[in-house]
Amino acid sequence: MTLPRCVGLLGGGMIGAGWAARFALHGVDVRLYDPDPDALRKAGEVIENARRAMRRLTLAPLPAEGALSATATLGDAVAGADFVVESAPERPELKRRLLAEADALAPPEVVFTSSTSGLRPTLLQADMRHPERFAVGHPFNPVYLLPLVEICPGDRTSEQTVARAAEVFRALGMSPLVVRKEIDGFLADRMQEALWREALWLVNDEIATVAEVDDAIRLAAGLRWAAMGTYETYRIAGGEEGMRHFMEQFGPALQWPWTHLTDVPELTDELLDRITEQSDAQAGGASVRELERLRDRCLVAVLRGLRSEAYGAGEVLAEYENRLRGLRT
Ligand SMILES: NC(=O)c1ccc[n+]([C@@H]2O[C@H](COP(=O)([O-])OP(=O)(O)OC[C@H]3O[C@@H](n4cnc5c(N)ncnc54)[C@H](O)[C@@H]3O)[C@@H](O)[C@H]2O)c1
Repeated sequence: MTLPRCVGLLGGGMIGAGWAARFALHGVDVRLYDPDPDALRKAGEVIENARRAMRRLTLAPLPAEGALSATATLGDAVAGADFVVESAPERPELKRRLLAEADALAPPEVVFTSSTSGLRPTLLQADMRHPERFAVGHPFNPVYLLPLVEICPGDRTSEQTVARAAEVFRALGMSPLVVRKEIDGFLADRMQEALWREALWLVNDEIATVAEVDDAIRLAAGLRWAAMGTYETYRIAGGEEGMRHFMEQFGPALQWPWTHLTDVPELTDELLDRITEQSDAQAGGASVRELERLRDRCLVAVLRGLRSEAYGAGEVLAEYENRLRGLRT
């Protein structure tokens, strides 16, 4: 059986409720343990939003929904669950204790994941009797819509646990990315945090307003990022000569004090070769023109979606179209 029959959720706030929605909408029964007496109501509201979003997202038939119930004790959430997801507050001691308590209550074959945004799994699994069954499974908000989930194994995580977590997440329509080396903040939050730091500096130094910083992202790079990541985007920016050319052209600028994040790796031949080779492999033989056309089709799809909401770049597009049609906006 690919999906568990029943999942135990420890913590049902923003992220736990998002997991409740993703599991329930894929036919998995959900047992939610959260000391907040309002947790079940809140999770029910999140599931309602998720239903609405899924109806807009896909016409594909989903299985009959799993049942959602709140449990009075940790033991009741874990009892009978084939998979356990911890989404309690980001406090290392709390998570560590909660995981150790839940671990003592579940048969050893039940896989546990933690939604932590950046705590190392080796730390979180430290007090578990069966640390091999545990890995980080870091999702993104809203959990029921965004596909990425970073799986980060700790020192004592088994390969079977990583494989099982990936299998379950995939069956929920997600795209698991296994983090190769344990690192604080994993991949996505490290990059988001770098951007966030710079955004805070720009407002702190009164160079831009909050809205200007947001426009600087959402009307340009943010749209490209929805289709292609940083490396793919820069490969195209290197033109026909590709990634190495881009690195040679813009590499030296990384040393200039443009940003507050000026500590950059030395661009050794070894690093340049690695980036170029991996970038070529990522392109899979596609020419820069083919990549540009793929990017453009994706951007048009995103822009059309945003236009239907008349928000962000979609608002800009809607106003532009109205002007073209000679209408007042
Ligand atoms: N908010 C995000 O965007 C985001 C994204 C990815 C991952 N995460 C991670 O997910 C986890 C949860 O974050 P959140 O944003 O849902 O926080 P939240 O504050 O919305 O929810 C935490 C929930 O845990 C409950 N809780 C408190 N003590 C508990 C206990 N002992 N046992 C069980 N539940 C308990 C709280 O009542 C609350 O409902 C954190 O580790 C966070 O880093 C958050």
